Amino acid sequence: MGACQHRDIVPEPPTPMPVERQAYRDAMARLGAAVNVVTTDGPGGRHGFTASAVCSVTDDPPTLLVCLNRGSSASAIVHANGVLCVNTLAAGQQELSDRFGGRVPPSERFQAGQWRPGVTGAPVLVGALASFDCRISRFVEVGTHDVLFCEVVGLDEAGTREGLMYFLRRYHALKETLPE
Ligand SMILES: Cc1cc2nc3c(=O)[nH]c(=O)nc-3n(C[C@H](O)[C@H](O)[C@H](O)COP(=O)(O)O)c2cc1C
Repeated sequence: MGACQHRDIVPEPPTPMPVERQAYRDAMARLGAAVNVVTTDGPGGRHGFTASAVCSVTDDPPTLLVCLNRGSSASAIVHANGVLCVNTLAAGQQELSDRFGGRVPPSERFQAGQWRPGVTGAPVLVGALASFDCRISRFVEVGTHDVLFCEVVGLDEAGTREGLMYFLRRYHALKETLPE
């Protein structure tokens, strides 16, 4: 096949179309994510919410980010406190995820689970897969959310190695390693 003929069959790039909000949400549901209960305490009071939008930024200085809806009841309190703890849930802790995800009012959320104060004062969940106690170093507004850049000042790990994932709008236990 000649070079010119080959060039003829290269498809045109698609015309850019606006991406609908629901289509974006449906595609993001396919991005499996760890489930975290993010807590805070301080002058603004104690609060907590579930978040899957958490990821590492850098290990020097150890920094992660959390995306928080500015319309949520936690937003003003997290701003006032300037600290938070990301408690990554273990398999079996999905009830805590629903609870902090809005199933019960903020004043009742800490009635389940065992909590102790971390070095920042934010509640650390005893038995979480991992806990990252943080001071918030920067807030960046993007659309409906704030991106919170958080410097990790305390760490905790539980004995269990079984994680909880949120994938296709359902919880999944992450237990098996695929053969190499
Ligand atoms: C699995 C799951 C993941 C969530 N991830 C986030 C997130 O990353 N960021 C966020 O702002 N809200 C997230 N939410 C929603 C908040 O947890 C929820 O809006 C909040 O707890 C409701 O609190 P409020 O009613 O007091 O405002 C998530 C909820 C669930 C169940």
